[in-house]
Amino acid sequence: MPPLFDWRFAADPYPAYAWLREHAPVRKTQLPSGVEAWLVTRYADARQALADPRLSKNPHHHGERGAHGKGKVGIPGERSANLMTHLLNIDPPDHTRLRRLVSKAFTPRRVAAFAPRVRELADGLIDSFATRGEADLIHEYAFPLPIYAICDMLGVPREDQEDFRTWAGMMIHQPGSPRGGVGRAVKRMRGYLAELIHRKRAELARADGRAEAARAEGGDALLSGDLISGLIRASDHGEHLTENEAAAMAFILLFAGFETTVNLIGNGMYALLRHPGQRAVLQQAVAEGDEGLLAGAVEELLRYDGPVELATWRFATRELTVGGQRVREGEPVLVVLAAADRDPAKFTDPDALDLTRQENQHLGYGHGIHYCLGAPLARLEGQTALATLLHRLPDLRLSADPEELRWRGGLIMRGLRRLPVEFTAA
Ligand code: HEM
Repeated sequence: MPPLFDWRFAADPYPAYAWLREHAPVRKTQLPSGVEAWLVTRYADARQALADPRLSKNPHHHGERGAHGKGKVGIPGERSANLMTHLLNIDPPDHTRLRRLVSKAFTPRRVAAFAPRVRELADGLIDSFATRGEADLIHEYAFPLPIYAICDMLGVPREDQEDFRTWAGMMIHQPGSPRGGVGRAVKRMRGYLAELIHRKRAELARADGRAEAARAEGGDALLSGDLISGLIRASDHGEHLTENEAAAMAFILLFAGFETTVNLIGNGMYALLRHPGQRAVLQQAVAEGDEGLLAGAVEELLRYDGPVELATWRFATRELTVGGQRVREGEPVLVVLAAADRDPAKFTDPDALDLTRQENQHLGYGHGIHYCLGAPLARLEGQTALATLLHRLPDLRLSADPEELRWRGGLIMRGLRRLPVEFTAA
């Protein structure tokens, strides 16, 4: 079996995943942290496992037997900041209640209304390096864009957004970021958000008290103002998010929507630079304003080399079989989205990048009740970021040997550390 989890694997995990799919599709594997978990690599098994209610998201479901305490699981540093009650760590009925409440505020309509701002952000970032003729697309483009976008959407004032950029850099060990650990960055972000929510809640209460009419706005009141105000106002059968739940929700939106989108833009642009024919197809579609092709292309980039290599953890609440393999109560299960999305039993010519692929039910955003809540925003950011770049810098090319590029070695995410490019200065 090809080695798992060494640096060569980080650069190209797909041969190892092909081997697993073929020879050991549900296999107990020791992770770098020492924790043992089942890896599920076939598409059909993966899809089924993601929607199986017997696989719990709650790491405490099984106390010490879940092996959660031993390894690097879920969000690094989350324990220290006591952020456990977010969507990715809970099951129904709590999950159903929280997801329904947040869905009232974080709507596709809100995301669509945000499109001009994302374009403005992409253009502004390109302006900052376009005259130089070279750039690191991770550091200068893919990394700042999602962090500013989600801060804007949440309602973090512009003057405070540089702090978020610093904290986010600390969280993913971005070059040039202050050292000092993920835990510290998470703690500061969490403290800031709790304070902001407290302030906004008081402001909203005053505003509602003044304007009787504001209350009658109903659903549309959720759209006016920023997402944090929407979260505070969202109610369902008289239920509201508590201040603590709203803070955990704002944090998970930031956290789940940040590194994922960095990698969507980074991995996506890298794949385009390595496939000139496909890149030409997309460049022409962008020039012609073919939004259908652009949307399909971003889905294919997600399938081909998606940001989320493994879905977040699941734990068996009782003995069950996954893909014919017996999994015992308490054992952790990891669904390998990157392997499932290259399964030849599901996708024709799965190792080929085909931006015009028609049948493309990939699992890049997960499946079932934990399906990515931020998918509409991720799509908007991915499509806008790639289209703007191809439009503004049409002769963009890689300026490093692909062999020398390094991938961030995490368990869940897959992305480049740097993506050096050159182009004709504009
Ligand atoms: C859940 C992928 C962007 C918020 C998920 C899951 C995946 C995923 C695979 C399911 C995890 C599991 O089942 O264990 C992605 C990808 C993105 C992206 C590939 C970018 C390309 C975003 C953005 C946001 C976001 C921009 C928000 C601003 C969330 C949330 C969940 C989630 C809140 C948890 C949903 C739940 O448990 O009900 N995402 N995501 N994601 N995502 Fe995303």
